[in-house]
Amino acid sequence: VVNASQLPDSGFSGALVVVTGGLGFIGSNTVRRLHDAGATVRVVDSLVEGHGGDRRNLAGLSGLDIEVLVADIGDEAVGDYLEGVDVIFNLAGQVSHQASMRDPAKDMALNAMSHCRLLETLRRVNRRARVVHASTRQVYGRALRLPVDESHPANPIDVNGVAKLAGEQLHMVYAHAYEMALSSLRLTNVYGPRQHLLSDELGFLPVFFRRALTNQPIEIFGDGEQRRDCLFVDDVVDALFHATSDAAAGRVYNVGHDQDYSLAELAEIIVRRSASTGGLRLTPWPPEHQRIDIGSFRSDSSLIAAELGWKAQTNLVDGVDQTIEFYRANPWYLSSI
Ligand SMILES: NC(=O)c1ccc[n+]([C@@H]2O[C@H](COP(=O)([O-])OP(=O)(O)OC[C@H]3O[C@@H](n4cnc5c(N)ncnc54)[C@H](O)[C@@H]3O)[C@@H](O)[C@H]2O)c1
Repeated sequence: VVNASQLPDSGFSGALVVVTGGLGFIGSNTVRRLHDAGATVRVVDSLVEGHGGDRRNLAGLSGLDIEVLVADIGDEAVGDYLEGVDVIFNLAGQVSHQASMRDPAKDMALNAMSHCRLLETLRRVNRRARVVHASTRQVYGRALRLPVDESHPANPIDVNGVAKLAGEQLHMVYAHAYEMALSSLRLTNVYGPRQHLLSDELGFLPVFFRRALTNQPIEIFGDGEQRRDCLFVDDVVDALFHATSDAAAGRVYNVGHDQDYSLAELAEIIVRRSASTGGLRLTPWPPEHQRIDIGSFRSDSSLIAAELGWKAQTNLVDGVDQTIEFYRANPWYLSSI
């Protein structure tokens, strides 16, 4: 059983853990760390088309203590998987802002309704499990002030932001109404190994990496002056582990980096570190992107630092170097096979 005083990794030895979205980017990195820490891991993932879910993300792990259920987290059958589990990392979600505008009902189904069903199942079969949900900085919409702390109003400007906020707040309702140990982390832009690079719609960072690693120009919409803080995926897994502690129950935390960069600076760093011959170029805003752009954003993550002792450890250049090295060693992420 997880003991908060031993977190983050050692407390998972012998624990039974479910990772939803565990075939995706953040999920598969979480599964790997749990496996290394000695946990028994169950994955629930519906392999949503066009997203990051891929069985190859778990390649090389011994199959013995990792079970994979291909199902929506809202399915009844998931209940059997949740019984007796110590911790659930609830990372299932659809990430694309563009897709959420084209098919709002699907985004609401995946990010809100499925989570509603999962929580209801959990209340029935296992109220004692600790749950950490992945929310997003997208819930804030356009920042009124920077950096953005948790007291900033949530005014999402796209359907994805609305659906993720609903999913997050459902966790808080269940935490408070039923005294369940549920927390939610509002993640900023994440990058690193095992991200789906081939879509143009799962965030700008995977697109930047794909274009640099294939020597194509990185295209930046507008003047490239919008600023973002970016998180290396290992830091996200650390934050997820910290959020299983008692102090996190019923809490929502920002999880970001205290260093921000303009998109042009980010692109330049990725081009330079990968020695890409493609360079970068500025291009006019496509209207479907501009109407849901949030402008500059930087998270204030001092609450999680103060309450749970988490802080991002990886600086951008180190994270970019590790990311480039991973994709060079695993080139299938850059091809459509
Ligand atoms: N990547 C980022 O920059 C970022 C930023 C903020 C928040 N998040 C959140 O983190 C979580 C993981 O994102 P990711 O980048 O790893 O995405 P990803 O697409 O790589 O992984 C998400 C996984 O969830 C699965 N999934 C989606 N909806 C599901 C459902 N209802 N039932 C079962 N499986 C489902 C998909 O098949 C996929 O494998 C998401 O909830 C996302 O909203 C990600």
